[in-house]
Amino acid sequence: MDREVEQALPIREVDATPYAASLIEGHRDFGYSLETALADVIDNSISAGSTSVELIANTTADEPSIIIADDGSGMSETELVEAMRLGSKNPSDKRSSEDLGRFGLGLKSASFSQCRSLTVISVKDSRTSCARWDLDRVSRRNDWSLELLDDHSAVPGLELLSGDGTVVVWEKLDRLVGGYGDDRAKRVGHLNEALRLAERHLRLVFHRFLEGKKPKIRISLNGRELKPIDPMASTHHSTQKLPEEVLMLSKGKVRIRCYTLPHHKKMTREEWDETGGPEGHLKSQGLYIYRENRLIISGGWLGLARQTELTKLCRIAVDIPNTMDSDWKIDVKKASAQLPPQVRERLKKVVEHFVGTSKRTYRRRGQQLVDETKQPIWNRLQKDGQVFFRPNIDHPVFEAYATQLPDHLREGFYRCMRIVGSGLPIETLHAELVGNAESVIADHADESDLRQLVTSMLEALAGSGIPPDAMPGVMQSHPVLRDNWYLVKKLIEDYLGQPDLPDTRV
Ligand SMILES: Nc1ncnc2c1ncn2[C@@H]1O[C@H](COP(=O)(O)OP(=O)(O)OP(=O)(O)O)[C@@H](O)[C@H]1O
Ligand SMILES: [Mg+2]
Repeated sequence: MDREVEQALPIREVDATPYAASLIEGHRDFGYSLETALADVIDNSISAGSTSVELIANTTADEPSIIIADDGSGMSETELVEAMRLGSKNPSDKRSSEDLGRFGLGLKSASFSQCRSLTVISVKDSRTSCARWDLDRVSRRNDWSLELLDDHSAVPGLELLSGDGTVVVWEKLDRLVGGYGDDRAKRVGHLNEALRLAERHLRLVFHRFLEGKKPKIRISLNGRELKPIDPMASTHHSTQKLPEEVLMLSKGKVRIRCYTLPHHKKMTREEWDETGGPEGHLKSQGLYIYRENRLIISGGWLGLARQTELTKLCRIAVDIPNTMDSDWKIDVKKASAQLPPQVRERLKKVVEHFVGTSKRTYRRRGQQLVDETKQPIWNRLQKDGQVFFRPNIDHPVFEAYATQLPDHLREGFYRCMRIVGSGLPIETLHAELVGNAESVIADHADESDLRQLVTSMLEALAGSGIPPDAMPGVMQSHPVLRDNWYLVKKLIEDYLGQPDLPDTRV
């Protein structure tokens, strides 16, 4: 039916205004967690030009509360009323590149996901305005009337403002007490644990702002300043970075940059744990998508590759502008997105190349480590397309011992060594190494074993004409000796009678 005919038909109209009580309750379940909810409120502070955001979590009070105070532009009463309106802005409106908002919902939906009472106090040009949504009141009245509080002296948090700025107060934290309403100790424990997770999330998603890349912002939690967590470890001297690639698309530029994190031995324990996060490096590899410098997706390959042990140090930073929000299908929480087809096509190639190179380098490195070790304790052998490891019975330590044995015991010794080789627990090793490689270590070698190993190796090296100054280098190709280098170096110095050998360790 064409439009003109359709318009000519009589129509009946009926008021279908949504029910306030049920709609506002529905806004509690967009799927926020405490961490994504806090991040959404802080987005508003950043958009309002704040330089400082203070989070105060009063977890031990009878009525716990969370306060988020910023020193941004603040709002007049009219602006505050608009801000409190659900759907205060149209998602298709154009926003400035500093504006992290999109839907006109975040302040309300993020807050309601955690609490039943949202109060906002804002100071602009020295005038203070205060408004509140209390879900119990909305539920009773079933209308959209917003409370304006002329007397806000009882609202916590105003003292945090010294000039223009905004304070968001969450009270009636029904969702955050984790069902432990009456059990105070458990309730406090649960809330503190949620805050601990949230703290890491904020350090990660706002790391570029905390690092001082424009605009610089300071965020504190109960007075403690949050330090950034850079998931690319981009300032670490051992991080490898490929040149940035820029995709010019009709709605803006997408920047892509590949990083390979340093091997765990080159990072401190703290750096390793922080970049790996609670789920570890295996799960944290992948794409890191930043929207206007704010991290919205951290890790995972979005279907472009598999998360494997060999690629666990690979991370790709993808920077997108807010002009492409609808193409990326950014959600209200700013915690998920989908790759637009053009970007997906290009990223697929980048990921395949990057991940493929990384896997090859890893394999080659592993192979070389064994193949290039002089006089290895284990030999890496290949036969019929299969790789296996066998104790090297020609190693000087074993050989020196075997020659001391009477003939009838020597064969028994070799047999024991072969059994050790065929009993290598490959499946267990594999299971342990996946996702947890850095905590699987070789058994500890005690000092007398090391002394025996070093002495017989040095004797064998001397016997095969290796000059003394080349000996430390050969010894270092051995993982067990390299890992105990301080002691091993001393043993070599004693053997050679040369104190203070140059430390050529790589
Ligand atoms: N801390 C703040 N300082 C100044 N203005 C604010 C603050 N918080 C919210 N506002 C105003 O309230 C509006 C509504 O905020 P809200 O978070 O609900 O939606 P949004 O940020 O526009 O979009 P989104 O739903 O994507 O977050 C903002 O656009 C902003 O104008
Ligand atoms: Mg917002």
